[in-house]
Amino acid sequence: MPTKTAIILSAGLGTRMKSDLPKVLHKVAGRSMVSIVAMQLEEAGVDEIRVVVGYGADLVRQELKDFKKVKFYTQQNQLGTADAVKAADIDSLSGVVLICNGDHPLITAQDYGQALNAALETDLLVTSCNVNNPKEFGRIVRGRDKEFLKIIESKQANPSELKIKEVNTGLYVVKAEVLKKYLPQIKNNNAKKEYYLTDIVELALRGERVVRAKAAKNKRVMFGVNNKLELYQANRALYLRKLRELMLDGVTIIDAKNTYIEKDCEVGAGSVIEPGVMIKGRTKIGKNCHIEAHCQITDSEINDDVKIKWGTIIEKSVVGKKSTLGPYARLRPETVVGEEVHLGNFVELKKATIGNRSKANHLTYLGDCEIGEDTNIGCGTITCNYAVDKKKYKTTIGSDVFVGSDTQFIAPVTVGDGAVIGSGSTITKDVPSAALAVSRAKQFIKEGYRKK
Ligand code: UD1
Ligand code: CA
Repeated sequence: MPTKTAIILSAGLGTRMKSDLPKVLHKVAGRSMVSIVAMQLEEAGVDEIRVVVGYGADLVRQELKDFKKVKFYTQQNQLGTADAVKAADIDSLSGVVLICNGDHPLITAQDYGQALNAALETDLLVTSCNVNNPKEFGRIVRGRDKEFLKIIESKQANPSELKIKEVNTGLYVVKAEVLKKYLPQIKNNNAKKEYYLTDIVELALRGERVVRAKAAKNKRVMFGVNNKLELYQANRALYLRKLRELMLDGVTIIDAKNTYIEKDCEVGAGSVIEPGVMIKGRTKIGKNCHIEAHCQITDSEINDDVKIKWGTIIEKSVVGKKSTLGPYARLRPETVVGEEVHLGNFVELKKATIGNRSKANHLTYLGDCEIGEDTNIGCGTITCNYAVDKKKYKTTIGSDVFVGSDTQFIAPVTVGDGAVIGSGSTITKDVPSAALAVSRAKQFIKEGYRKK
């Protein structure tokens, strides 16, 4: 197999996005368009990816810094697609070169793979697409015997050429040697004074090279994002692609138009996802879970048979089997919840470890703490973890502890197994195992205090 290098054209301004952010950094289903393209190309097995950057170059570099196969090339001025390819140091290329756009986020690894395979018997392969409304796309001009003659840009096309319904998708595979020979010959003698990569077709044909245009079956190959409406359409398409996979794997999605699950997330069979749910990053949800409406779960692990009620937000946390959370619970990073735990409404946890079968059912803040098994945390309990010295301190509560309502733990503090904390206490000293701790003032009564 010859070396396969991909060149992603991403130097364009993206004026129609009306945004300061470079176009290719806009996110589709949680990922920037250029990283989606790079990821699909890696999956298609290319050996190297050359990204041509221009507008917002530093931001694009930053975004792709973890891609091992990616190298960056800067196009100084946006003088057209041929000039952009030239910026990618083509003299150093060998084997075959795949050229594509950084703003076509719906193309799959299979599509790139098909183009690479179809190109095996050619010197230059253009991926085309047959459409009803060819809009601004370059037209594939064919001769009497359907032989490929050239690509004409819509601005240059005559009325009969404008009627052509086979268009250029902007995805090409070309032999490195052919690219090196003909790219430098492209001129900018057109209305826009741009160097059109599409002119390479006529040049290569004149050099008696084998040049073909092969139509892709799926319109996703031609779908490019140029404005916020197309960005929305791309989002819808990629979210739906993921939901379709999940549904066929046994996940119930109530309303696919209003459910947002990112590509790298997993959801087990038998789980039900209600509308308005967002599952992001590298979240893993087990089997037979029920996620009620408007929950947001990011980079977390939710084990089997968990019920997450309406409006709960979970970030970088782990939840054990058969637990119930919410409505309106909030798990902030580094929280680990055991099995069969109950966390109710308006319970906020941060860097908290909660043992199996423990409960905190109402209005509670548990931060920087460790709680054992079978412990009950009463309504309104607060771990006061943040001290006047601006440092955070830890609260440790054992197993089988009963914490009465409206208790404050002034950390650092430790409560032993089986202890009981009287309601309304402010706990400043450690409580031994099986002890009762109460710190509230005694009730005081003065009869007849208020005269009639
Ligand atoms: C190009 C094709 C057209 C095809 C269409 C498919 C040419 C001349 N025309 O047109 O036949 O139907 O794509 O989408 O190639 N870019 C740079 N530097 C530049 C110019 C462009 O990096 O100087 C990048 C853009 O960021 C974009 C890609 O190249 O990712 C395509 O450029 P764009 O201006 O969108 O080309 P079109 O006019 O749409
Ligand atoms: Ca375009």
